[in-house]
Amino acid sequence: MEKITIIGAGNVGATCANVIAQKDLAREVVMLDIKKGVAEGKALDIWQTSSIKKFNTRVTGVTDDYLKTQGSGIVIITSGVPRKPGMSRDDLIKTNATIVKEVTEKVVKYSPDAIIIIVSNPLDVMTYTAYKTANKLHNKVFGMAGILDTGRYRAFLASALNVSPKDIHALLLGGHGDTMVPLPRYTSISGIPVSEFLGKDELNKIVERTKKGGGELVGLMGTSAWYAPGAAVAQMVEAIVDDERSIHPVCACLKGEYGLSDVYLGVPVILGKNGVEEIIQIELDEEEKKLLTESANSVKKVLKILDDMNIL
Ligand code: NAI
Ligand code: 2OP
Repeated sequence: MEKITIIGAGNVGATCANVIAQKDLAREVVMLDIKKGVAEGKALDIWQTSSIKKFNTRVTGVTDDYLKTQGSGIVIITSGVPRKPGMSRDDLIKTNATIVKEVTEKVVKYSPDAIIIIVSNPLDVMTYTAYKTANKLHNKVFGMAGILDTGRYRAFLASALNVSPKDIHALLLGGHGDTMVPLPRYTSISGIPVSEFLGKDELNKIVERTKKGGGELVGLMGTSAWYAPGAAVAQMVEAIVDDERSIHPVCACLKGEYGLSDVYLGVPVILGKNGVEEIIQIELDEEEKKLLTESANSVKKVLKILDDMNIL
């Protein structure tokens, strides 16, 4: 791909640029931030690893200059404030909705054909905000959360079982919040159901830790995570750039799937050159359906706060 832009050169944005460059996924990665010199500095630092890490992707940084982002094939939006200890992702809505709306307008002006990936929190509602602002087909605006959340789940399982995380396949549905729905019934280790390895209680502890995985890191670091989030976004970019048609949990626009409409929520999708190529509907049992409904309801509550802001 010729150009990928990342809005926000903070912890997640810069990490994401670094992984994308190391994977050589684009001719150029542009980072844009409003803090003077930060995007330029981080871009230069990453570019100075190119001969060491052996990649060609040119990494550049700009301060609020959207002209330099012109013609991007993919734009990743990470701008906004992260959580502090004691805050939920939903506490960020007032600040971040305004930022995401303003940034999306500028992105679309300079890169009308871009696929837009949202990272800013509260993720499901920020993705909806970008979708409404961008006025694009819904397959081209979606959010990153599920790859991160399953990444955490798989890491916890790999530690508990002392097996390679690469062998663990898992699926997760719902919003990017404490009501997310990891699905043990769709979790396997090299094709062997996870229930063959772990009892219900042990598995339940891992599921609960996953749901609060973001908060665990905020508690430890005083701000939210960036290594796994940055890598998770880069995996989505890779699937699009290489037209992989690989299946990932993605925050996608639902239009009747899973009995839900007019809401963005985490579901399994096929990712390819057109973005979300297809939403996959899997069979859920009664308990899983109940949990998904609860998760959708908690996202809808945050959507109501957005509606009340009257900015869209
Ligand atoms: P950060 O504070 O390190 O970086 C955010 C950057 O956005 C800052 O450099 C800031 O100057 C910039 N920014 C603010 N307003 C801007 C604007 N109007 N235009 C351009 N840049 C602007 O925060 P971090 O840790 O990188 O997190 C970014 C966002 O991503 C937060 O909302 C956080 O909650 C969210 N997040 C989401 C995850 C997910 O799974 N979806 C995972 C991790 C973080
Ligand atoms: C995370 O899950 C805060 O959404 C961010 O790490």
